[in-house]
Amino acid sequence: MDQDIERVLVHERRIRDRVAELGARISRDYAGKDLTVVALLKGGVVFLADIIRSISIPMDLDFAWASSYGDRTTSSGNVVLKVVPDTNLRGRHVLLVDDILDTGRTLARVSAELTDRLGAAEVKTCVLLDKAARREVPVHADYVGFEVENVFVVGYGLDFDDRYRNLPYIGVLKPHLYSK
Ligand code: PRP
Repeated sequence: MDQDIERVLVHERRIRDRVAELGARISRDYAGKDLTVVALLKGGVVFLADIIRSISIPMDLDFAWASSYGDRTTSSGNVVLKVVPDTNLRGRHVLLVDDILDTGRTLARVSAELTDRLGAAEVKTCVLLDKAARREVPVHADYVGFEVENVFVVGYGLDFDDRYRNLPYIGVLKPHLYSK
């Protein structure tokens, strides 16, 4: 897999240090609150596994899975939830965890569902990567690991065609692999 990577954008060590910082901040910010972490499948699971182990306060864990229909690169992209959290979120402080904030459609839609339909008291968001140059809807994440440029990144949960999620770092994929 390493041979498909043009360059490493965020090394394993930097990810580990940043995740520890974010976990410490989250633990301080949510002290005394009913925290439920909701992770987005599939890409968010690697970041999730690390960040929850750096959170030192009691918390619940659940999952959601969003799907987009239509061309997600245009305004017609429509995100629906195909897996909905199973636990009762009513009155809970939810922290939505995902690997990357790109156009913003996924986080905007899922956040709205968790508050409007499932009754969460509050939804904040935590992403490892923020690709602000790609934003189409006005969403910001409350906790961000790294701002990244507009390049095709894989690894640490992020895929191309469902591959590369298991790379332990964030890498830039060689263009010939996705432009075929
Ligand atoms: C990716 C990523 C985010 C979303 C971000 O998920 O994991 O959930 O896109 O994009 P947006 O800000 O433009 O909505 P994807 O739909 O590729 O599914 P995956 O997590 O299963 O890879």
